Parts: sequence; C-alpha cells; structure tokens
Amino acid sequence: MLSVPTLVPAATELVAKSQRAHVYKYCSTTEPSKDTYCIKILQAEGAFLRHQLHLLERIARLQASSEAAPLPLARVARFGVPQGSQYPKPSQLHLVTRWIEGETLAQVASRWARTPQGVPLQEALTMLAAVADALAALASDSGRQPLIHQDIKLSNIVVTNNDTRPRAQFIDLDTAFFLGDPVEAIPFGSFGYAAPECLERREGWPSPAADVFSFGATVHEVLTGSLPHPFVSNPRNGRQFWLTYYRRTDALSPSENLPADVRELLDACLSLDPQMRPSVSELVARIRQLAERHNATEHIRPTSPKSAPLPTPLEPPCAPTLA
Ligand SMILES: Nc1ncnc2c1ncn2[C@@H]1O[C@H](COP(=O)(O)OP(=O)(O)O)[C@@H](O)[C@H]1O
Ligand SMILES: [Mg+2]
Repeated sequence: MLSVPTLVPAATELVAKSQRAHVYKYCSTTEPSKDTYCIKILQAEGAFLRHQLHLLERIARLQASSEAAPLPLARVARFGVPQGSQYPKPSQLHLVTRWIEGETLAQVASRWARTPQGVPLQEALTMLAAVADALAALASDSGRQPLIHQDIKLSNIVVTNNDTRPRAQFIDLDTAFFLGDPVEAIPFGSFGYAAPECLERREGWPSPAADVFSFGATVHEVLTGSLPHPFVSNPRNGRQFWLTYYRRTDALSPSENLPADVRELLDACLSLDPQMRPSVSELVARIRQLAERHNATEHIRPTSPKSAPLPTPLEPPCAPTLA
C-alpha cells in the first residue's frame, strides 16, 4: 500500500516527538532526487484515519494538477498505512512531504526576542502579511472548496525569504479539512490559538473565520511574545478550562504595547463572534496597509515566550481518540 523510504539512521533526524506523532527530517540517499523530506508518523485510526487519507489524496491531486492554484503547503510525496497495519484498526499513518527550507515562525520569533534592539515593526508586519497571503490561498474557493487548517500557530508556519520577499507555507495537516467535508472525526487545534466556536463545536463552526482567529493569536504572539490571554498557558488546562474562560470573557484584549491600529485589527480577528471577524481577503488588505503605514524606524520588542508552546491536544471533541 505504501513504501516509505527505509530510514537510514545517518540520514534521519528526529525533529519532533509527542504521544501522537513522530516527525523526522530525512535526507534521501536512495531517492533519485536526493531531496530532503519530512516523514511524519501519526497515530490514527477509524474515521480520523479515513479522513486523513481522503484529505491527503485530494491535496496530492491538487498539487499535481497544473491547473489548480498552488497551495501554500509542503508538497505531499507519499502517504498511507504501511503494510502490516490492520487498517482500519489502530494504526499509523505515514506521511512523507518535501522539507521546506526556511524557519518556522516560532524560530523567527525566538530569534527576534533575542535581538536587543527589537525588530522593525514594518519587517514583522511584512512577514505576517505573507502569512495572511498564505491563509488567503488556503481559503480560496476558486475551483475547489476552501481548506480550513484549524491549527494555525507559530510552529506550523514555515517562512522562506527568497527574492527578499517573505513567503509563508503551512505544515501539519492533522486538523485540516476541506469546507463541506464531514467534520465529526476531526480534532480541534491548539488551546490558546483555536477559536472558541471550534472548541465548543458550535453550529456552523467550520469556516475560514476559525483560521482568522488563530492568525490573530499568532500575530499577537509574534509581536509581543505572548498570547492574547490574561494568563500563561498551562498544559494542564484542557478543553473545559478554555470553554469556561471564553464563556466568561466579553472580549480579548490585545496588549496595550501595540500601536492602536495594530490592536484594532487584532481586536477584530480575535472577536469571540466569528461573524465579527474580517474575511480573509479583508485581512490581507488591512495587514498590508499596516505594513505600509508603519515606517521602518519603529521597533517592537517582543519578549521570549513565558511558557513552552502547547502541543496540539490529544482530545478530539466528539470523535475517537488519536492515541
Ligand atoms: N515539510 C516540512 N518542512 C520543514 N519543516 C517541517 C516540515 N514538517 C514538519 N516540520 C518541522 O517539524 C515540526 C513538527 O511537525 P508537525 O507536523 O507540526 O508535527 P506536530 O504534529 O508534532 O506538531 C514543525 O514544527 C517543523 O519544525
Ligand atoms: Mg505542529
């Protein structure tokens, strides 16, 4: 069913490990191209596994088509359940994608936090505008349904700086789906970034507005070093904690240290009501305007994150567990 390259220890580097997934960087010594790949081994079963196979199949087809607009995603090389796994019983999904050379936004943000003079606001906004462009490409409905990522956060965004213009691509499709697909088996994204309606599974929650909320949280973290919540994220806080917090909160308050016009955009993106958030295309226009308006002499001084980023939780809302 699938032939995953034999992992040659010398050519393989473990880059991330959780209860749910192991992720390796792999420099092929046997593939004709000798390219670098990412191999992700994800615990997946039942309806979630079926959903992932369907999603990856569609993405691979779109990426292979010369007519479809390019997706801002790592190129899918192979995927499937290796022989010996008892599909659809508990099993492992192997996914091989091309490695994107660049830095995750998490690496960029931690580099900026160590820069004593801070970072030109314009440079940060220009990079974030590239992320908004990528989000607009995902949410595009030309020739296909919009793709909702659901786990937009710093470690799931890779930026490259070819031709001096930053370009952003998303990785980690564990929570992604094409709008209109069944969503029962799909887990929600990471606490702190996931929109309240996604955690709640409120009627009508599947929408590009969910990614706009997570984008707002990501921008806040890049520019300030922390998420837009009045406490430090704690891995012990589960879904119930976050649901109660959002229920008791009227509105999130972006940091007072940010310029008023940046705060205004974040207020809108982080609205607890998805209908009040800007559309993805409006978001692109507004963040580009901000990048043009703020001049290169203005600096922001993000601090180091106060806590390690939280992993994508294990608990899907109403679906089989992943681990
Ligand atoms: N295609 C890729 N190109 C470059 N880096 C990648 C790629 N896929 C994964 N990574 C790196 O591996 C890390 C973990 O991968 P990810 O798919 O996000 O796993 P997890 O489900 O554990 O979050 C990412 O934060 C990134 O640093
Ligand atoms: Mg990830």
